Amino acid sequence: MIKILALSGSLRARSSNTAILRSMIGLAFHDMKISLDDQIGVLPHFNPDLDQEIVPASVKIWRDRLQEVDGVIICTPEYAHGIPGVLKNALDWLVSSGELVNKPIAVISASPSPDGGAHAHTSLIQTLTVMAAVIVEDATLRLPAVSAKLSRTGEVVDSATAQALLSLLKALVAAIEREAIALDTGL
Ligand code: FNR
Repeated sequence: MIKILALSGSLRARSSNTAILRSMIGLAFHDMKISLDDQIGVLPHFNPDLDQEIVPASVKIWRDRLQEVDGVIICTPEYAHGIPGVLKNALDWLVSSGELVNKPIAVISASPSPDGGAHAHTSLIQTLTVMAAVIVEDATLRLPAVSAKLSRTGEVVDSATAQALLSLLKALVAAIEREAIALDTGL
């Protein structure tokens, strides 16, 4: 069973980014489970003084959840040309503990703007790269004009977008399988 965590950078109830991740849960194929994160909004502000042997309970749950999954899909909006603070905060809690090291990650940014949140997309990839995550080739996507691609109830109604999301998921799974083989063989 391949386990994937879907992580939205938006806490908004009617978030387009979360809607995209929900639609990807419906794309899960063969032996795969995609679960939507519900944790990052309750994490404390990152503070190195709290990053000790015993960490706050929510941080432990967050780290354990990341440890359990084989890959991650992040779908995020852009706020003021950066990634949302809540997402950066959640990632900062993983720097010292290293749950993202060698973990295959798909990166999506979605925005009503024409560039699909390009600044946030680039910045997120930089952060994940320095954290030694595996940014999967063919699993990075910017979704511009996202509102037009979703129905009022949040389903993806644009067929090119649906196709792109499926291709991205396949690329992520292929990378997870490659990573597992590398671990098994020690390569
Ligand atoms: C935005 N938005 C935005 N969009 C963008 O493309 N570049 C930007 O720099 C910003 N900055 C920004 C700041 C703040 C505080 C807000 C609230 C919004 C617009 C943003 O992309 C839009 O609200 C998305 O719909 C947010 O994503 P969710 O919540 O729908 O997933």
